[in-house]
Amino acid sequence: MDKPASCESVLEHNRRYIPGGISSVNRSIDPAIAFVKGEGAHLWDSEGKRYIDYHAGFAPYFLGHNFKPVNEAAAAALMDGDSLFGAGPSVAEGSLARLICENVPAAEKVTLLNTGSEATSLAIRIARAVTGRSHVIVMQGGYNGNHDELACNVFNTLAEIGPRVCPGEYPLRPLGAGTTITRTHFTHAVNFNDLESVRYVCRRYPTAALITEPLLQNIGVVKPQPGYLEGLRSLADEFGFLLVFDEVKTGFRHALGGYSEISGVKPDLVVYGKAVANGFPLAVVGGKAEYMDSIIDPDPTRRPFVAGTYNGHPVAVAAAIATMRYLIANKDILYPRMEAMGAEIEAGILDIFSRHGILACIARQGSAFSFYLMQKPPADLHDIIEGHDFAKDVALRRALIQRGVFFVPIATKQCSLSAAHTNADIGFTLERFESAVAAVW
Ligand SMILES: Cc1ncc(COP(=O)(O)O)c(C=O)c1O
Repeated sequence: MDKPASCESVLEHNRRYIPGGISSVNRSIDPAIAFVKGEGAHLWDSEGKRYIDYHAGFAPYFLGHNFKPVNEAAAAALMDGDSLFGAGPSVAEGSLARLICENVPAAEKVTLLNTGSEATSLAIRIARAVTGRSHVIVMQGGYNGNHDELACNVFNTLAEIGPRVCPGEYPLRPLGAGTTITRTHFTHAVNFNDLESVRYVCRRYPTAALITEPLLQNIGVVKPQPGYLEGLRSLADEFGFLLVFDEVKTGFRHALGGYSEISGVKPDLVVYGKAVANGFPLAVVGGKAEYMDSIIDPDPTRRPFVAGTYNGHPVAVAAAIATMRYLIANKDILYPRMEAMGAEIEAGILDIFSRHGILACIARQGSAFSFYLMQKPPADLHDIIEGHDFAKDVALRRALIQRGVFFVPIATKQCSLSAAHTNADIGFTLERFESAVAAVW
């Protein structure tokens, strides 16, 4: 099958060989669009239809799809004889690590991996090795990767988790079958923006780590309330757990130094992925040198195990170096421009909702935004499941897709502008948004 005629036929073909036809359940959407090309802020599907993209492949494409300087650097790594030598240090990994450590305040030292999930897994392992404890606090409404201990409690219904718990912890709701999470009892889910529940868990369990996105970006955009991240920092110091910021989505997108730079709160460990290599598979665990150096502790019983055939892969590393260099060279123009574009689309969408008499709000951080069909931006998952109109949200997204604007058709999923979006793209989007709203309401 070289050139499939329709998106449906791609799915049908794939279903014969891949369960469900798609290799990640997160990509399983309705309508099932088979994209074949991405360039800048645009996508094309197998039927030749063009879309303005606000999904950015789940957020990595901060500089746009197939950003030339990054692609050229990756291609050069392939053409120049770089390879996966499987022994010894590489010049490129050292260059990338230096670029990150010199520009990201939270990262005194780093190590390189391939995916966000591997990186959050390693961060937890380091925290356990350093503290000698096992328990981990996660956020209700946060996503930190696909592995056994963290893949739980993201988008639950009220029936699944019950009313708001404070202080206390939520029942664990694994994202799927086949995990040990409910058997090990090491994971504790608490509400975002709730310091009392963190204290509650720490008093009961020897806690190794609290891992959180500094603003939740897997249930839209849910910001920390003033003092919340500072409060987490104080609790970490009081109870001796490691504060781990999962900046897989927020890192490099909101500032060169990630959201920890914006908030001024320094985590003990930090995890990056996605935008760090503008779409190439690379992730980073970084943090305070004293904790990162546990990786080389001379005592093997205290040394967290880090290994990976593809860690520091030359192609992804070359892409990340090019991304970092571009961000560093352009940061003074780029981040304010992304903020201005974000503000423009936010104002435009709010104006449309208001003129149509629809109760709605927008939560936004720079280039990432989400609309909620409710009075005010949520402070936690409960606000969303109690207040948001999920059916209308998805209907609006589908109407936008029909009109050539790709808001991924999953309720509350955040939209990500890229540096490739133009004011003309935003103008077109707002025009289509108005028409979609008129069709849905
Ligand atoms: C905040 C956060 N952490 C971790 C991950 C896992 O990253 P990956 O999908 O690269 O394993 C994701 C993925 O969406 C994420 O959004």
